[in-house]
Amino acid sequence: MVVDTRLFHWEYEPPPVEHEVFRVEGGVPLRGEVAISGAKNAALKLLAAATLTGERCRFTNVPEIEDVRVMVETLRDLGVVVDHPAPNVYEVASGDVEWLFVPLEAAAKMRASFILLGPLLARFGQVIMSNPGGDRIGRRPVNLHVDAMRALGAEIDYRNGYYFARAPGRLRGGEIRFPNVTVMGTENAMLAATLAEGHTVIRPAAREPEVDDLIAMLQKMGAEVERTAPDTIEIQGRRRLRGAEHSVVPDRIETGTFVIAAAVTGGEVILQGAPCDDLGAFLEVVTRMGVQVACGRDSIEVRGAPRGSGEYRACDVETAPYPGFATDLQPPTSVLLTQASGRSRLHETIFEDRLEWLSELARMGAALDVIDSHHATIDGPSRLHAATVEIGDLRAGASLILAALAADGTTTIHGAHHVRRGYENIEGKFVGLGARIERLAEGTVTAPA
Ligand code: EPZ
Repeated sequence: MVVDTRLFHWEYEPPPVEHEVFRVEGGVPLRGEVAISGAKNAALKLLAAATLTGERCRFTNVPEIEDVRVMVETLRDLGVVVDHPAPNVYEVASGDVEWLFVPLEAAAKMRASFILLGPLLARFGQVIMSNPGGDRIGRRPVNLHVDAMRALGAEIDYRNGYYFARAPGRLRGGEIRFPNVTVMGTENAMLAATLAEGHTVIRPAAREPEVDDLIAMLQKMGAEVERTAPDTIEIQGRRRLRGAEHSVVPDRIETGTFVIAAAVTGGEVILQGAPCDDLGAFLEVVTRMGVQVACGRDSIEVRGAPRGSGEYRACDVETAPYPGFATDLQPPTSVLLTQASGRSRLHETIFEDRLEWLSELARMGAALDVIDSHHATIDGPSRLHAATVEIGDLRAGASLILAALAADGTTTIHGAHHVRRGYENIEGKFVGLGARIERLAEGTVTAPA
């Protein structure tokens, strides 16, 4: 199939996103129970994995979030049948994919659309992918993904913002060595290798729980894939895979976000369906700071110190690939650090722009110093106060909500759509715990009474 790329406008103007704000009245200790949803960073890859077979795949516990909606829309644009028979349930059938082109629109909305490169290339032998966009937390290149595909025999050219990928014949298994751990690079390589001819070894392979959830689904589909060492995944390619059913692993990042919410509001919250075992490094930090955490079989009970008590102890935080401290939990934890007595040092080792949002936190009264793009210090305890702030990325957005819940007064947070990309019904879950939060269309926010 020859795609006449002149048909596509290079300069792409994303549709105007719905401008929404969160309005939060702080100071209420959160109390009660909240159910943790399926993991965004598992669900998006599982939906992509379903294109490895023409048979139907059924997924449950899929979070109802904007990124899932974008992935479903992208799959349907490819000709993939996606049914949504019930909330949190999706069925995918990729029998008649007729259009192997992932447009700039999908990629501009969501970097994770790039996870389609491996499966579509392996199954159909060719695909055109737009260079992805994604969160504003760093350059976010995809060179390691492309290198991995070439290691499996693919030919990939890059022109005018698009990757043109072909696998003459069939992909061939091989040795994939990454210079650093890459989660989606590992996943793209693994997905492609399941249909490649021969044996593939991926090293260092990412160890995130969402990667193991994807391995579990692939094994149900008949793929020969196994984690043969903590940082090694090996695959023996098969000619074809079958349909399967899978429930998405719970979201450890959402879990950590609610742990911090309980801690900074001085509340008592039970997180149902929370994956305690996947949060080792994070729970070690928050308990060292003085948050009371009790892990049940699949729940976490959190008890926070009274707001403003200054009972929390300062703690240094350095992010690292799993099982290290998750970079996605660094922004929420930074809010707790503002409530700790003493100086905490932040070292963000994964992304170069993930500290930018701290300027918004400082506008709410946090005492902090961003030393460079990877280092900051936070002094506490600080009495946070209401402000009008702007969200730049998904995790910073959720963290500004946490700061607003802990602050005196009513905070207006612009850019609510960023948060809806990755948290299912976040304002509804907070309201269920007694928080005073509402999501409003821009312009309806009147000055706080
Ligand atoms: C995944 O991003 C997650 N996203 C991120 O969560 C998470 O923060 C990150 O892994 C943790 O490493 C999804 O799973 C959809 P990487 P990913 O490849 O795979 C560099 C969220 O909020 N790199 O592990 O894109 C990269 O710049 C998001 O849910 C290259 O240089 O991240 C980074 O410095 C944010 N070239 C490092 O590697 C590449 O080709 C690790 O990134 C790929 C990555």
